[in-house]
Amino acid sequence: MKYKTPGVICCLIAGASLFQYCSKSGSSGTVTGTGSTLTASATPQLPAAAFNYSNLPLPSHILACLATDDNTPATNPVTNDGATLGRVLFYDKSLSKNNSVSCGSCHRPDLSFSDSAIKSKGFEGGVTARHSMALLNTRFYRSGKMFWDERANSLEEQVLMPIQNSVEMGMTLTELETKVAGISYYPALFQKAFGSSNINSDRISKALAQFVRSIITYQSKYDLVKQGQASFTADERDGETLFLTAGNVTCAGCHAPPMFLTSSPQAPFALADPTDAGINNQHRFKSGSLRNIANTAPYFHNGSVPSLTAMLGAAGTAPIPQHTVAPQDRQKLLAFLQTLTDVTTIADVKYSDPFRQ
Ligand code: HEC
Ligand code: HEC
Repeated sequence: MKYKTPGVICCLIAGASLFQYCSKSGSSGTVTGTGSTLTASATPQLPAAAFNYSNLPLPSHILACLATDDNTPATNPVTNDGATLGRVLFYDKSLSKNNSVSCGSCHRPDLSFSDSAIKSKGFEGGVTARHSMALLNTRFYRSGKMFWDERANSLEEQVLMPIQNSVEMGMTLTELETKVAGISYYPALFQKAFGSSNINSDRISKALAQFVRSIITYQSKYDLVKQGQASFTADERDGETLFLTAGNVTCAGCHAPPMFLTSSPQAPFALADPTDAGINNQHRFKSGSLRNIANTAPYFHNGSVPSLTAMLGAAGTAPIPQHTVAPQDRQKLLAFLQTLTDVTTIADVKYSDPFRQ
């Protein structure tokens, strides 16, 4: 098969042996917008010394992937103070026109930064066109292209789009800059993150991107097994073998370990959807990391598949014929997919809502 994006280079260096390679190794005030007027959140609770976002103790199988697939631009490396500012912005409802939603409303930490709703609710109660995406291991999508249809060229470009989206947060960039500059706790956070208290949309974009890039799962059972610190059950092991080898295009051929990202979103593997043409109008869709997939239902770009068992064809036919797995193999594949869940990362206080502590 052809790999169209360079996103899995780390897993392709040595062709099939890649898999061995990888496994070896609140606003202070009240703001009036259109619609309802809400009082924005109180001051965020932050630690005296910033949490560690920039230097996570990543195991070697993840570091090897980071070395080749990282989409971090040289102009915006993750720093502890930058990601701290990004965390506050991410959970601040002041970033929406009427102070009713934050990024975290549609990307909930307890749901691996996705949403259990099929379509998410925006600031005036309207719903998004597609299902929310989990924000895990975003940094490892080599091309850096974001959204189900890859319409944003980078994470820095992407993070300002929901703020300006008329359904999601409803602001202009000028309104955003003025509003954030008027909130008491921001100047000091910008000062720490960027060396001066100037507030502009470029810095807001950089800080949000740093926070999103800092969210990496590396503490799942799968990761412990790869480090020789745990072992798979028989079903989990058989499930991994199926994932790596079954089918003429294997699951791993697209959802390449260790980050399980779609390398080559192909039309036949997308969920048939006459209302949505996807990437370049070719009926193709990106899939984010399959890590924590058991925690991010419902599935696919339109959220129409309610569970992993449904996606594997429990009802007789899989919603995507090309994703179909033989009945006797489903339980094994499911067991393997569940080993990808890392609850430690999503419960980590450094990724949590600082307005809620
Ligand atoms: C009202 C709900 C909602 C809000 C608020 C929201 N998002 Fe999203 N987010 C979504 C949906 C829905 C998608 C998928 C949209 C699409 O592909 O067309 C998405 C996609 C993304 C992606 C793409 C992930 C990938 O792997 O391609 C990122 C990154 C993201 N959002 C970050 C943010 C940030 C940062 C904020 C706050 C500034 C935010 N979102 C606010 C619903 C929301
Ligand atoms: C040719 C590439 C390809 C192959 C092979 C492939 N997938 Fe996918 N997968 C995709 C694409 C593309 C999507 C997103 C489709 C959409 O949303 O319409 C996806 C979506 C998924 C999702 C839902 C992700 C989400 O966030 O909603 C799961 C789970 C999944 N695949 C598992 C598997 C399993 C298990 C296999 C092997 C049986 C497999 N895939 C084989 C490309 C592939």
